[in-house]
Amino acid sequence: MNNSRENIGMFNLTNRVVFVAGGAGYLTLPVCRALLEQGARIAIGDFNLENLKAAVDVLSTEFPGDSILGLDFDIADEDSIANSIEGILKKFGRLDCLVNATYRNVGKSVKDLTSGEFNQANSINITGTFLLVRAAAEAMENGGSIILFSSMYGLISPNQSDYPGKMEKNPAEYGAGKAAINQLARFMAGEYGKQNIRVNAIAPGPFPWESVQVEYPDFMKKLSAKTMLGRIGRRDEIAGTVVYLASDASSYMTGQVLSVDGGVTAW
Ligand SMILES: NC(=O)c1ccc[n+]([C@@H]2O[C@H](COP(=O)([O-])OP(=O)(O)OC[C@H]3O[C@@H](n4cnc5c(N)ncnc54)[C@H](O)[C@@H]3O)[C@@H](O)[C@H]2O)c1
Repeated sequence: MNNSRENIGMFNLTNRVVFVAGGAGYLTLPVCRALLEQGARIAIGDFNLENLKAAVDVLSTEFPGDSILGLDFDIADEDSIANSIEGILKKFGRLDCLVNATYRNVGKSVKDLTSGEFNQANSINITGTFLLVRAAAEAMENGGSIILFSSMYGLISPNQSDYPGKMEKNPAEYGAGKAAINQLARFMAGEYGKQNIRVNAIAPGPFPWESVQVEYPDFMKKLSAKTMLGRIGRRDEIAGTVVYLASDASSYMTGQVLSVDGGVTAW
């Protein structure tokens, strides 16, 4: 059977401009690379300036030209959100997609977490996400796609007894923020649907950083056993889902939370 020509290039992002907030991180560097491979121009926003520079440097070598903008960006600061969107419009003239991977994790036990720390995490994970989504949507004049990084721990609870003694446990404020992000994805999808702006969340499963993998091999075995695939995720295994959601391949999908977790939440 001859496939329709319309289907060719469904994932192609040529002429699209993507803002990757928290773009210099472990999962987002491969995301940026995959977006560039599909022809997108990208703005990488991050408050870790050392990692930001390293990400821009490495990607600019791999993708020479003028398709990468690095932005000193802090989602906790409303002016930084406005300035970043303005900077993107000035540089590229448009915005088609937002990916938000920023998050705040205080990392204390329930007993020790103060109200101030809990509020601070919420202001980044929830208020910051809300403000960034709104600012990005207002800049999207041709429709668009908004992709929010959630977590399996916005859907299920971490089992605190799985963690070895000195290891930092996945904390309450993190999952509460991620659950809020799932709901924001649904709410904002309704808000912006008529403008052809789609809003979806991705809920990654276990993608521990390399340092954690090395330090806690027994915990890795435990995490792996929680998945149907029997292994933890590789850092590049979220990128395809981001490209899918950014592209026309997902043009009728909005208001959803996509789990990319090796099956953890499907048992
Ligand atoms: N790695 C995992 O196992 C895993 C699992 C589930 C969900 N997630 C989610 O995926 C996303 C990416 O995770 P990761 O493991 O790559 O984390 P990461 O810490 O490597 O990346 C997050 C990036 O966001 C940046 N950032 C944090 N706060 C910011 C702020 N206020 N303003 C601007 N930038 C800020 C950081 O500097 C970092 O570069 C996160 O939202 C995380 O919650 C990760």
